[in-house]
Amino acid sequence: MSKKMWGGRFSLPTDKFVEEFNASVHFDNRFYKYDIKGSMAHAKMLAKQGIISEEDRENLLKGLEQVLSEIEAGNFEWKTEDEDIHMAIEKRLTEIVGDAGKRLHTARSRNDQVAVDFRMYMKEEIIEVQALLAELLKTLMQKADSENAQLMPGFTHLQTAQPILFAHWIMAYFQMLKRDFTRFADCLERMDYCPLGAGALAGTTFDIDRHFTASELGFKAPTENSLDSVSDRDFAIEFLSACAICQMHLSRFSEELIIYSTSEFSFIELSDDFCTCSSIMPQKKNPDMPELIRGKTGRVYGSLISMLTTMKGLPLAYNKDMQEDKEPVFDALDTIKASLKIFAPMVEKMTLRPENMEKSAGAGYSTATDLADYLVRKGVPFRESHHIVGSTVAYAIEKNVDISELSIDEFKRFSDAITDDIYQYITVRASVNSRSAYGGTAESSVKEQIKKAKKYVNEIF
Ligand code: ARG
Repeated sequence: MSKKMWGGRFSLPTDKFVEEFNASVHFDNRFYKYDIKGSMAHAKMLAKQGIISEEDRENLLKGLEQVLSEIEAGNFEWKTEDEDIHMAIEKRLTEIVGDAGKRLHTARSRNDQVAVDFRMYMKEEIIEVQALLAELLKTLMQKADSENAQLMPGFTHLQTAQPILFAHWIMAYFQMLKRDFTRFADCLERMDYCPLGAGALAGTTFDIDRHFTASELGFKAPTENSLDSVSDRDFAIEFLSACAICQMHLSRFSEELIIYSTSEFSFIELSDDFCTCSSIMPQKKNPDMPELIRGKTGRVYGSLISMLTTMKGLPLAYNKDMQEDKEPVFDALDTIKASLKIFAPMVEKMTLRPENMEKSAGAGYSTATDLADYLVRKGVPFRESHHIVGSTVAYAIEKNVDISELSIDEFKRFSDAITDDIYQYITVRASVNSRSAYGGTAESSVKEQIKKAKKYVNEIF
């Protein structure tokens, strides 16, 4: 005869290796707090509805408190034979309180239990991720604010395109990460419904109060459909996709930090405490942190794909495949939290090399578009002016000078519309500051952007 809690139907004990393969207790023990909270709410509800006695209720609550403190004190042994967190806790509880422990599972199944644990866990973790994101947003906003006039080149195809402000570049990431912040908020909102009381799949024959447990556990309301409640994992998938997008943003940011800190670019320098040296080349300072964050993006995508694949094609309701839903989430969570934790101080402590940035901002004929716009303002149609400037740049390349170094006579070879005033339009600073339309890189526009960002950061803190 099996000694398992569910062993009544079985004549053979579980095979040892099957037991190990089947067990999730060594990873789902992350849910212990929520499993206990959920059981407390369930016990209170059962008593309130007259399904268990007041005495059972008291015993269960005390017993659950004790299990909680044993786990928190590190005195709880997670045993493979207990299979999962739910059974491990219930078993210990029953050892402590006797028969009342055996009554706790009335009107409940592990299927709704794991669904409620998981959602409670995620709700708290998302708030932690958001707090780290808020910290990073604040750092970016402050960095942009303190370096609000610094020039740098902007690229397309990684070729110099037009000069921009460093603050504008930093604020581009602020905008991306701000959207990530709201994506996490959205997914939190949608998962805020309590599946407890859905039972195995079809609901329960007992007169339970699901509104009570939902509010006791801090959910907005109970879920509406018992089948959906135990089958759905889209809350986790949605979270993983928000993580994947956010990590992708961090990865692009990392990539730029890596490029900009090379000796060839030399726009920024990462702080020593965020870099390592080579074991053989003593001159090296390697940007391991941004590289790792870029590298870890793969595993976050992996978690999303793994979860989508696990769920694809599963018939309703619960299937054991779904036990595979936790580790990808844990891994993605650990990864994104660590990446965010590192990112904020890494950006805060990095220093700029203003001369190099400014010099590069003006290199590569970055103000050619300003010359084209100048001609348009003088009445030349844009397509024509594009052609004129193309030839002017080709001429300057041939002479190995910048367009600002051409004489007015040289300009006139390409267009009569160019007059003496041209020089004031094709400096790097003028180029930047002329892009003052809403959302542009002009100092005035970027200041507006930072002002709004400050307000946003204040709201989320
Ligand atoms: N450990 C299981 C899981 O994480 C709990 C649910 C078990 N339900 C079942 N019907 N076997 O998915």
